[in-house]
Amino acid sequence: MVAKDKVTVPVLRARKARGPKISVVTAYDATFARLFDEGGADVLLVGDSLGMVVQGLPTTLGVTLDDMIYHGRAVVRGSKRAHVVGDMPFMSYQTGVVPALEAAGRMVKEAGYEAIKLEGGELYAEHVRAIVRAGIPVMGHVGLLPQSVHTMGGFKVQGRDDASAARVIADARALEQAGAYAIVVEAVPAELAARVTEAVSIPTIGIGAGAACDGQVLVGYDLLGMYAELRPKFVKHYAETGRAIVDATRAYVAEVQSGAFPSPEHAFGMPRERPAAPEPTGSGAVVQVTPPRYGPAGEES
Ligand code: KIV
Repeated sequence: MVAKDKVTVPVLRARKARGPKISVVTAYDATFARLFDEGGADVLLVGDSLGMVVQGLPTTLGVTLDDMIYHGRAVVRGSKRAHVVGDMPFMSYQTGVVPALEAAGRMVKEAGYEAIKLEGGELYAEHVRAIVRAGIPVMGHVGLLPQSVHTMGGFKVQGRDDASAARVIADARALEQAGAYAIVVEAVPAELAARVTEAVSIPTIGIGAGAACDGQVLVGYDLLGMYAELRPKFVKHYAETGRAIVDATRAYVAEVQSGAFPSPEHAFGMPRERPAAPEPTGSGAVVQVTPPRYGPAGEES
């Protein structure tokens, strides 16, 4: 069933003029999707950042199309209201328009994504146009492009000189003309992000791009403070979950070692009236009685 106030592409487009600003969070599994959805995030982005935060890779380059489909399925299952977008992984679209179309199609058909995101502007305008023409909404991505980390010489702020700033604006315009419905603007000076936001009629979603964008995106694990020691300038922790998880784990380990866990309230009791013991069959096999269902300790199952 479709949630009543389901966030859709037209809803997001209308937010540019009418607000409120769009909140995007990355999610990679059903549990986090359910929680972020319940918290009111408008968009759940299954970012290829999953290569770094879930798979422990140094970059996003090793993420495969199958990875994106696997994680996308889980996030789609966990979400109700949020619009779910999946990143096209490295080399799933760079090789041509047809492979891009096929990969985007698999992401929608097999994972249930409502839109896809790809990195780059003018260079991929043709790809974007073909995917949009096939009925798949496309979110663009300009500024710092993590899939081009080696070309950019690291995860570095972009658009700091005139030529680079002009490129970011030209890329955003090319994406809009190709039919993209929104654009992520990553790691550019706030002034440039404001210019991009004015230059296009579709919503811009900033990350490390200041407050002028039409929305913001954060990696879910950053928002939750999962990396206590790692806080890039553009990241804000809305909780210190990393610390809480370590503390909870320590408490659990201590109680397992001391025998305090499990206490009787966490243990199952025997049913008050036990079924007769199973009769051995002629072959020596045991006839199975109805298996007990899990229930609170001491209750009849
Ligand atoms: O992969 C990702 O999570 C992203 C966002 C940070 C924009 O592309």
